[in-house]
Amino acid sequence: MAILVTGGAGYIGSHTCLELLNQGFDIVVVDNLINSKAESLRRVSDITGKEFKFYKLDLLDEELLETVFIEYDIESVIHFAGLKAVGESVNVPLRYYYNNIISTINLCKVMNKFNVKNLVFSSSATVYGTPDHVPISEKFPLSAMNPYGRTKLVIEDILRDLYVSDNSWSISLLRYFNPIGAHESGTIGEDPNGIPNNLMPYITQVAIGKLKELNVFGNNYPTVDGTGVRDYIHVVDLALGHIKALDKMSNHSGVETFNLGTGKGYSVLEIIAAFEEVSMKEIPYKIVAPRQGDVPICYADASKAQNELGWVAEREIKLMCMDAWRWQSQNPNGYGKDTLITESEKNPGLIIKSKDFFVS
Ligand code: NAD
Ligand code: UD1
Repeated sequence: MAILVTGGAGYIGSHTCLELLNQGFDIVVVDNLINSKAESLRRVSDITGKEFKFYKLDLLDEELLETVFIEYDIESVIHFAGLKAVGESVNVPLRYYYNNIISTINLCKVMNKFNVKNLVFSSSATVYGTPDHVPISEKFPLSAMNPYGRTKLVIEDILRDLYVSDNSWSISLLRYFNPIGAHESGTIGEDPNGIPNNLMPYITQVAIGKLKELNVFGNNYPTVDGTGVRDYIHVVDLALGHIKALDKMSNHSGVETFNLGTGKGYSVLEIIAAFEEVSMKEIPYKIVAPRQGDVPICYADASKAQNELGWVAEREIKLMCMDAWRWQSQNPNGYGKDTLITESEKNPGLIIKSKDFFVS
């Protein structure tokens, strides 16, 4: 029996594949590499010393997806695949609705056909819109501030409807807060295309000298120092949360929603200070106007995940900064050129092995 990981070459997916392999799960990965490199998976194989199959495949192609279910005895699916850039989603909403929603529908259709009914879905704290107060519990009202967020809301609804229609499904909707950091090896991490939108990759690129200075979006919010407050969570803690959700699903059916956050909020200036301390790098910054659509303050009530999944985020903010910095400083150009892309195009069910196998 194997766990299918969609979007497994991406930032959170690759860290989750690593933890799954470390815990002895068999995995099969599918990803169309639209926002990632297969090199991340080769490094996952390197770190764990394990092999697994990778399909360069678009979830929009239902027939191709079926071939994976024909070949493997899939037990559960962790569904990371999706487009995630908020600003881009405002400019090309149809692309976001089509990719994120249709690919999820295709996945569920194929799962249904092959009687695979355990699904962990990557949702986001963005579904809380602008919360009235903090900490944010799963019971808070939901709203979307942009097309990206709306795809998450729509998919959550689709999955709830699916369960109503067939109570044998077991579905976990995991609402992530702000994932940052990287595996302690510094060999896998976040590799955004172009200029980063999110705070931590922007800071790390300022630290290596790729970007001149950080723009701090607003300093007049009702927070500790006027800058925006977020619940930053180490990507490895987040990855481990998925495994706890899988454990729970093995003996429960239903649709359950969990916040995955630390329950603590840090301001932008606090993050800059923590990063400077662990990296010994100065981060020049200037205060600019607030970013449209930003909420002043957002952090989780993560007690449901603690009580029901037995999961708690353990890695603290300095470790998050240190790991983000180790990844960025060891890989100034991210994963660089991906030699595995052509390899995976030639061979749809590529076996991902460690580096001695793939010498380009
Ligand atoms: P990512 O872009 O690194 O990973 C997503 C992966 O999905 C990429 O490898 C991409 O190539 C793949 N993909 C996209 N569309 C696909 C398709 N049609 N078929 C096959 N593969 C496809 O993003 P991430 O940060 O690892 O996020 C993973 C999931 O978590 C996403 O659904 C995202 O919306 C959600 N999420 C992320 C954050 C965050 O801050 N990173 C926060 C909340 C929720
Ligand atoms: C952003 C998205 C959100 C998504 C989340 C995780 C927007 C409006 N929101 O949220 O939908 O779920 O990423 O991918 O894009 N900041 C700066 N300067 C920067 C970058 C960020 O000051 O260059 C500040 C922001 O104003 C915010 C904090 O840093 O206060 C964190 O920003 P970011 O990392 O982009 O995450 P979110 O705003 O939480």
